[in-house]
Amino acid sequence: MTESSTFQPTPSPKGDEPVYACFADSIQPDKLDKTPFQFEHKLMGHPALELSNLAQVLPALGERVMYSKGMAQLGANFDRAHIDHQNGLSIEETIDQILTTQSYVAVRGPENHASFKDLHRSMCDDIARLMKRNGSGTLPTDAEMWLFIASPNAVTPFHFDRFSNFLLQFRGSKQVAVFEPWNDEVIAPTQYEAYTARSDRQMHWDDRMDRHAHKFNFQAGQAIHIPFLGGHYVKNGPEDVSISMAIFYHTDVTRRFRQALIINDLLRRRLSRFGLAPSAVNSAGSMDGLKSGLYPIVKGIANLKGRLTGAKADDASEGY
Ligand SMILES: [Fe+2]
Repeated sequence: MTESSTFQPTPSPKGDEPVYACFADSIQPDKLDKTPFQFEHKLMGHPALELSNLAQVLPALGERVMYSKGMAQLGANFDRAHIDHQNGLSIEETIDQILTTQSYVAVRGPENHASFKDLHRSMCDDIARLMKRNGSGTLPTDAEMWLFIASPNAVTPFHFDRFSNFLLQFRGSKQVAVFEPWNDEVIAPTQYEAYTARSDRQMHWDDRMDRHAHKFNFQAGQAIHIPFLGGHYVKNGPEDVSISMAIFYHTDVTRRFRQALIINDLLRRRLSRFGLAPSAVNSAGSMDGLKSGLYPIVKGIANLKGRLTGAKADDASEGY
C-alpha cells in the first residue's frame, strides 16, 4: 500500500475555496437519502487512516472492535456476525493475517480515539453543509464513524444501516450493490420496521432482488452515499485487503422516519392480536408525524420500566 506521510486535502479544481473538507465539491445535496451515488472523497493519505495509526487505534478501542470470519452468503445475519461467525483468532492475529484468513473487522466509533476526533468533526461539518442545502436540517445527529477492514473476497451480507451513510474507500476494491430506499419489492414495509426496531434482525434476501441494485465498482479515493433505508451488500475485490470508513448519521427527516418506524413496529405487534394493522410509514395517511411525536413518550416509559425491572430498554440508535 502506498500511503503519503503528509495529508493534503485535494484542492478545488478552479483554485476556489473548497466547499467541503472531505467530499468532492461536485456532490449533489438533492440526491441525499433519495438515491445512492458515487463520488470522490478528499481524504486519501489522511494520517488517521494510515496502517501505523490503525495498529495503535484498534487495541485502544477494546470492545468497539468487532471481528468475524468473512461471510459468503448474502442472506447471512450481518447484525450478529461477530457473535455467530467468530474466527478463533485474537484481534492482533486477525489484523496480522487479514490477507489470508477471510476475516472481517468492524470498529465502532473510532472518533473515541484522539487521532480521529478532527476527522469526525470535519465530516460532520460537511454533512451539516449538505443538510442546509437540501433542507433536511442544520446538524447531523447520532453521527458515528465506523472502520471496516476485510480480507480479499470477503462478503458483507445484505442489510441496511438504520442511518444515512457515507462510505469511503481507502485501500483495495469492492463491488457495492445499493438499493433505493422505500422499494417494497426489495424490503417489505414490515421489515423496515422490524429491523429498525430490532424486533427481527434477520434480513430477507432473494437473488431476484438483484435486478433493482445500483452496482458500483468502488476504488480507493471514492465514496458512496447509501441513503437511509437503502439496502446494500458488498463483495470485496480479490487482489487486496479492503480498508473503508463510514459515517452514519441522522438528518431531522431520517430521525423522524426512524422514530415512526419503531412506533409502527410496536403498533403492528400489538394490533395484530385484534386482526388490525397500522398504515406503513411513508405511505398515504400513515400519520408519521404523530408516530414520531409518540416516540419520546414510549421510549420514556420503556426506560422507566427498565429502571424499575433492571432490564435495559432497547435503543435503535445503538449498534450497526
Ligand atoms: Fe451497511
